[in-house]
Formats: sequence, C-alpha cells, structure tokens
Amino acid sequence: MASTETSTTPFDDQIPGTSGLRKKTRVFMQPGYLENFVQAIFDAIGGAQGKHFVVGGDGRFFNAEAIQTILKIAAANGAAQVTVGQGGLLSTPAASHLIRKLGADGGLILSASHNPGGIDADFGLKYNIDNGGPAPEAITRKISDSAASLTRYHIAEAKDADLAQIGTSEIAGMLLTVVDPVDDYAALMAELFDFDKIRALFAGGFSMRFDAMHAVTGPYARRILEEELGAASGTVINATPSPDFGGGHPDPNPVWAHELMSEMMSDRAPDFGAASDGDGDRNMIVGPGLFVSPSDSLAVLAANAHLAPAYTAGIAGVARSMPTSAAVDRVAEKLGVAPYETPTGWKFFGNLLDAGRVTLCGEESAGTGSDHVREKDGLWAVLLWLNILAERGESLPAIMQDHWQTFGRDYYARHDYEALPKPVAEEVMSQLRARLGDLPGESFGALTVSAADEFSYVDPVDQSESHAQGLRVYFEGGARAVLRLSGTGTEGATLRVYLQSYTPGDGALNLDTSVALAPVAAAIHAIAGLARTGRDAPDVIT
Ligand code: G1P
Ligand code: ZN
Repeated sequence: MASTETSTTPFDDQIPGTSGLRKKTRVFMQPGYLENFVQAIFDAIGGAQGKHFVVGGDGRFFNAEAIQTILKIAAANGAAQVTVGQGGLLSTPAASHLIRKLGADGGLILSASHNPGGIDADFGLKYNIDNGGPAPEAITRKISDSAASLTRYHIAEAKDADLAQIGTSEIAGMLLTVVDPVDDYAALMAELFDFDKIRALFAGGFSMRFDAMHAVTGPYARRILEEELGAASGTVINATPSPDFGGGHPDPNPVWAHELMSEMMSDRAPDFGAASDGDGDRNMIVGPGLFVSPSDSLAVLAANAHLAPAYTAGIAGVARSMPTSAAVDRVAEKLGVAPYETPTGWKFFGNLLDAGRVTLCGEESAGTGSDHVREKDGLWAVLLWLNILAERGESLPAIMQDHWQTFGRDYYARHDYEALPKPVAEEVMSQLRARLGDLPGESFGALTVSAADEFSYVDPVDQSESHAQGLRVYFEGGARAVLRLSGTGTEGATLRVYLQSYTPGDGALNLDTSVALAPVAAAIHAIAGLARTGRDAPDVIT
C-alpha cells in the first residue's frame, strides 16, 4: 500500500550544490522534510519507475531512520530495486563503485562528509548518477526546482526493512538487496594495486597507523589493511563507526586528526600515517615528522602512479581544482600529459574522467582519486601510497625530498574564517572583486602583483560554463592567493583564503610552511582587507 501525502515545502534558500543538501540534523528530521527532498530527486530524474538505486551512508545520527524513509518512498514511486549496504553503511567511494558495478540508475548517499554528526550537528543527502559520480549542476538545479514546487510525495506503508541481514527481501513490490559494504570495494582495490608487494612490505616490519576517526572507513581499513595486507592488528584506530564520530570532527587534517598527528610527530612514529573522513572520500597522508599537503600528495601520486598495476600504462592527464597548488601541473608537464584546472567540487572531474582525458584528479581539501570510481577515494589514495612505498623501498620523507628536488616545492596552506556573518564575507569578496583590475603592478611588502582575476570555467567536454569560482591574485616569483566562499558550510559564511608560494628545487625546501607563506599571507591580508572579518587570525589553518 502506498499513500500520497500533501507536502508543504519546508525548503529555504539552499540550492543543492557541490555536495547535495547539507543541513542541521534537526532540519532533516522535521516531518516531511527528508520526504520532500527524496521525492524531488525522483521527480527531477524523470521518476523512479523500474529503476535500481544504491543507498547507503556514513553511519551518522539519523542514517538508519533516513534510509527506511528513502526505501519507502522509492517503493511508492515504483523503483524496481534498491541495493543497500549492511547496517545502512557504504562509504562514498564504495557507493560510487557499486552504482557502476551493478549498472544501477543512480544512488542516494547519506552523509555530511567531514562535518560532525549527532542530533545537534549535521546531516546530508546527495544524489549520484549512473556513472557513479555526483549529479552535475543541470540535475541539481532540477532537484532544486522540483523541491520548490513540490505539492505531494508518495510513500509506501510498509514496516521497516531489516538492514542487519545480508540477503534479499521485498518492500511493497520493490526488491531490496542488502550487501556487505566492503566486499566489492576490497575486490576493486585488489585489482588496482599489487597486494603481494604491499603484504611483503608489512611482513618486512613496515609500520603504519590509520585513523578512521570513528567513521565509515573503519570496517574498510580493518579488512583491507589488517586482514588482507597483514598490517599489525591495532594499525587501524577509532575503527568503529559511531553516530557522532566519537564527538569529534571526522575531518582528516592536522587539526582534527591530532591524535594521529601527535603520534607521527613523536619519536615513536610508525613509518606511515593516514586518516580518512566521515564518508571515506578524503585522506590525510603523514610520514614520521612530516605532514604531506594534499596538493603535494596528488603530485607525488601522479609522478609515481605507473608503479601500481592499474596505472602501468601511464596516466592520460591530471585535473586539480583551481585552489589546489600547481605542484601537480609541474608533474604533468614532465610527463607530457594535460593538466586541467577545474572549479572546486568533485563533480567537475566527472566529464574529464568519463571522456578519458584524465586518470588522476584531486583537491587541496584532502580529496584524491582516479578513474576507478567517480568520487574521491580516501583508502584508494592510502593504498596507492603504500604501493609506491613498497615499490620504491624508500621512506616517505625521502620520497618527498626527492620530489621537491626534482620539481621544486609549492608551499601551501588554507586559512579558513568560519561562521562569519554572511554580509561581512560577501563584502570582503565584493570589495576585492572591484579592485582586481587595479592590482597588477602594485606592491605589498616584498611582493608585487603580476595578475588578478575571477576564475570562470568552461567544461571542455560539454561546454557548460561556471562563473564566479574564486578570486585569484598572482605575484611575481610564483606566489598566489585565492579567496572564495565555502559552498558546504551550514552556519553563516566561511571565507577560504588559499596561499601558495613556489621554491625551486635548489632552494630552501624545508622551511616551516607558515614562514614560507608569511609574505603572501601578509600581502593578501592587506589587499583583501581581511581585518574586516574582525578576527585576529583564521579559525582553522590546514
Ligand atoms: C569543500 C572543499 C571542496 C570539496 C567540498 C566537498 O567545499 O573545499 O574542495 O569538494 O568541500 O567535499 P567548500 O566548503 O570549500 O565549498
Ligand atoms: Zn567526505
């Protein structure tokens, strides 16, 4: 039995953007709210009739309840089949893989990524299309439009499904298949990488710590690193997904992964450290005494990918989001492959990957991935690093030194001013936008502006245009500052200031990042009038 409920659209100004709809959990829990959004998704994609969807999430608070609602709405809308991860769990990259492997029509992924979870924290839902990647803007716009004009949703009157048992059942005529969330993903990783070589590395005494941050990668990392590759038991810490991620931010950066960072900076550091975020798509890489910036990690992976079985034939090209450092461009140049610069957000890589123009891609925000799925993939990056370490037989710090000597070093940092009043953040942006044309030739401390613009992008595959993607100020000598407003925050506005400064391979390669970036930080502070934020310093530096 299905019923049709009248819907009063409790949507405000949020347009499902880069990461679907992300809101406070209590907002999602309002009667009818989730229902409306799910119905809007089905309406926007031409209905659910006869379709197969993959559904799973990162296990945060409200994950299980939301999945029950999604199943009933899918059934009432005539979906033929839904495949769900056991316990409602699927990491984002594993969901992307399942959609592709099963030839499903799409997927609904429940996560607010690295944002905290809990009844007073964040929740999110996004729709992925049949290539396994986030819905492109044309579809998110349609979802937004149908949400705004929605007058009803359909929901099956059925009892809650049992998601604890692997197997098949039926909900109001729709087939429900509950699968092990790790099996297919682990099999894919074993195809891409030389597991024997990595096994030998661990058997030879190589030590590692992986911080799953109480989030979804715990079961994946335990199975792959400890059970299949023979890493010592206890290698994976915080391995049990919890609804509030142990009360922390499941964000793999030196600030939030401080437990791992302090071990890696101590004299009892293992050979290699890594962490992943709430839904398993981000990664952090750290060696004994040395944090690897995500931009550098992407560059090292691109330079060494041919050492892993999946990439022995070389890479077709690389893509990075605009705020990501130019380190990977230098590698692309040496390899003779195309570098692409895209707006922030993984969805912009989808067309390039589908068209075979790029093999690897990444973002400064700890996202790295390849054409094996259509999402960034935290554990994939960790395994590629392990494969490279096993092949090269050198330590991580030695590999980084060699990389910087060969390509030079792009010192890099991101300064976030969080939860600013929206008008303040918008004023900083509009004042700088207005000044861009006057900046070239002007000097600020030791730095002189060489160019300044606002980033626009034309997708080389489908020619779709994206404007206002960040304000860029370039300085003579290779430094750059970028300003943009976050599209994923759930409180006020977050202003991101991205800093980079280049040192050639025969220069000072081991400076403290904050020292190397001090001139560009001071220059952009003056240029953009960052004093207007009313903050003495950024809230988070990564
Ligand atoms: C942030 C990151 C961006 C990433 C997105 C989704 O978006 O900066 O690189 O793609 O999260 O994980 P932002 O809040 O900056 O809009
Ligand atoms: Zn994430």
